[in-house]
Amino acid sequence: MLSTATILGKIVSMYKFTEIEFGLQNLIGISNKTLEEHFALYKGYIDNANTLLEQIDLLSTEGLAKPKNPQYTSMVRRLGWEINGIKLHELYFANLTQHATGEPGGNLLKQLASGWGNFNNWQKEFTNFGLMRGPGWVILAQDNRSNFITNFFVQEHDVGLLIEFTPVIVMDVWEHAYLIDYSTSLKAEYIRMFFTNLNWQVANSRALVR
Ligand SMILES: [Fe+2]
Repeated sequence: MLSTATILGKIVSMYKFTEIEFGLQNLIGISNKTLEEHFALYKGYIDNANTLLEQIDLLSTEGLAKPKNPQYTSMVRRLGWEINGIKLHELYFANLTQHATGEPGGNLLKQLASGWGNFNNWQKEFTNFGLMRGPGWVILAQDNRSNFITNFFVQEHDVGLLIEFTPVIVMDVWEHAYLIDYSTSLKAEYIRMFFTNLNWQVANSRALVR
């Protein structure tokens, strides 16, 4: 039977995380400087995740991949944080566009209006989640089984993720996402700009229609 470390080693030999080029620039209210810094940070998660996988694989080949080896266990525990850091940033960048109309639309708009009474109610709740203190993500997600959609908050990258829910709209509310452009007291303005640049076509494509 293959051990976890051996399986990870096989993954490392077959696959590495690679950077996606999003071609994102000239957004309204979110500067190119912020985007450049943010892409660099995203690249850091990719590098760290690949390094971690390589190091775990190395420990495995050296016979040091043991549950009582603190070096091994700390790397294993960190892996989800780094990989989620990649995936959440990819979902975030992909649901922004310099060609946004600012107007919500599609079937998702109907689902939000139906679930929250009207679109503004949903947007207000999503915004309020974003205004909570602490680093994290605000996510609108849909249960793969029931089609139920809900807003939720992920602390850092890994606390509060919903299992078997598909992210539909992902908003980064770590300070690095807005601090070059807005002070912390103006976080609401960043969130307003997030909606201004939101790609509703992408959001609609992520939502399930059954
Ligand atoms: Fe970020």
